[in-house]
Amino acid sequence: MCGIVGVLGKGPVAEQLVDALKRLEYRGYDSAGVATVENGHLGRRRAEGKLRNLEDLLKRSPLHGDTGIGHTRWATHGKPIESNAHPHMTDLVSVVHNGIIENFRELKEELIAQGAVFTSDTDTEVIAHLITRELRAGSDPIRAVYHALKRLKGAFALAMIFAGFNDLMIVARQGSPLAIGYGKDEMFVGSDAIALAPFTDEIAYLEDGDWAVMTRKGVAIRDRNGNAVERAITRSLATALLVDKGNHRHFMAKEIHEQPEVIGHTLAAYVDLATNRVDIPALPFDFARLTRLSLSACGTAFYACLVAKYWFERWAKLPVDVDIASEFRYRETALDTGGAALFVSQSGETADTLATLRYCRAQGQHILSIVNVRESSIARESDAILPTLAGPEIGVASTKAFTCQLTVLACLAIAAGKARGVIGPALEAELVQALGEVPRLMATVLRDEKPYEALGHQLSKARDVLYLGRGSSYPIALEGALKLKEISYIHAEGYAAGELKHGPIALIDENMPVIVIAPRDDLFDKTVSNMQEVAARGGRIVLVSDADPSSTGCAVAAYLAVPPVHRFVAPLVYAVPVQLIAYYTAVFMGTDVDQPRNLAKSVTVE
Ligand code: AGP
Repeated sequence: MCGIVGVLGKGPVAEQLVDALKRLEYRGYDSAGVATVENGHLGRRRAEGKLRNLEDLLKRSPLHGDTGIGHTRWATHGKPIESNAHPHMTDLVSVVHNGIIENFRELKEELIAQGAVFTSDTDTEVIAHLITRELRAGSDPIRAVYHALKRLKGAFALAMIFAGFNDLMIVARQGSPLAIGYGKDEMFVGSDAIALAPFTDEIAYLEDGDWAVMTRKGVAIRDRNGNAVERAITRSLATALLVDKGNHRHFMAKEIHEQPEVIGHTLAAYVDLATNRVDIPALPFDFARLTRLSLSACGTAFYACLVAKYWFERWAKLPVDVDIASEFRYRETALDTGGAALFVSQSGETADTLATLRYCRAQGQHILSIVNVRESSIARESDAILPTLAGPEIGVASTKAFTCQLTVLACLAIAAGKARGVIGPALEAELVQALGEVPRLMATVLRDEKPYEALGHQLSKARDVLYLGRGSSYPIALEGALKLKEISYIHAEGYAAGELKHGPIALIDENMPVIVIAPRDDLFDKTVSNMQEVAARGGRIVLVSDADPSSTGCAVAAYLAVPPVHRFVAPLVYAVPVQLIAYYTAVFMGTDVDQPRNLAKSVTVE
């Protein structure tokens, strides 16, 4: 996962930059670099591999500037080679970036047509050239950055320094977190408070859309419209061990908000957004030769497997068996010799999942697992692992790990479709590009939580709640019900919308909130019919959709707007609304959101 740092120091900052980057190593990376302003000029050192390679380079060829930025890169666009390592720069500006610039291709073509010379395959380099074009047109750095930011589409965090400006750094946050550290006549910026812990514990977290002009005397923060805003300075408890809540009330809230960033980092490990191609590590089996794939997990991870069933069968034409591990392990089902079994687990320690893995191994299956903890038992007993890069998930209710699991499963389904000859280059590019838009789409949902707060207040009075969804939204209905019940203790049930008339419709009355997960896809109209059946019986409908409620012909009690999404990635984006619904309901219930009663983060016993 990429990490960015910046220092406006009292002396040479290269060593401080590397020290801060070392505290971001836990995020994973494949190259690193620093840049400083020295005698008015920008200097840069970059190295592939671990930070010690950068340190060795700086010993051989030091940088002396006291204004600088640094970066650890996990390649999203372009191979992990030195020329793609950050910082990216021109002679006027140097920039480090964490996230995804979705429209970088059109910007790159525009800039090349105007004479810009690119030296990397990255999306980040377009930012350096955009700002340079503004500077050469006569803007000062602040105006240049303001205009450049208006052109960028995606989720990103940025730090920039400028030739000729020794007491200036401009930073921006759009979907990926950024923390400002306050020192004595020195200032700092980092991807999180852990990076800044050696320098200061006085931290202000930028909000989405913020950008800030930093000097050694202080910071001027502006919102996306250029209006001056204040961000609270908190005392950070961050150490390498204690992951802190940032400026959130609960770990669960922080982890919901981390999703745009960690989805970007997880994607980076499995796709190349410069070419819109999947890039999956070698697997212990050939998808082309599989007749069936078995998926198994527990809880939220099982719902990720249910979504994956729709993806593998629709896009790869690969039949999939999915079952909860506690049932799979005792069914003694017959499995094709040489078949493949895929296990999904955040902790990698869930007893039922591990036992099912061992059952499948005994049945001669190739074992693949998707885990968030690489050194876990399930990982160690797998033939191959596909890690999620969600970072530590502290809240018992799984959120960012779930959407990172979906990200890996989506990439795997594309790879399976390619191997089985049913996904060609054009469709591959379409699906990968859709995945590349997910961080921004999630950030858009997270921009306005007021409707969720209002709904949470209403739902906190409910006794039962019903969630409905069709197709790949059905598992999201199940996940939404699980989220609500496990942290608010309100009984909730997820149902396939098409099943309403087969029983649950008997539950419908004015006391039963019905939450309908309905992206405007080819099943939307059928789900609208179910909404009308609910409305006709006085049910209180909460519509979660990109469709305008008026198009349904139903009166809805609440409407949670989601931006239009490609049908392939709807489960990823619609996971955020159901997480927020559960979170705010639990907050109003006054339950222990991060440590709900009776629950453990990892169920290591049967
Ligand atoms: C998710 O919100 C729950 N905490 C729980 O269902 C969890 O997903 C399940 O126990 C599986 O855990 P794992 O992913 O670590 O295997």
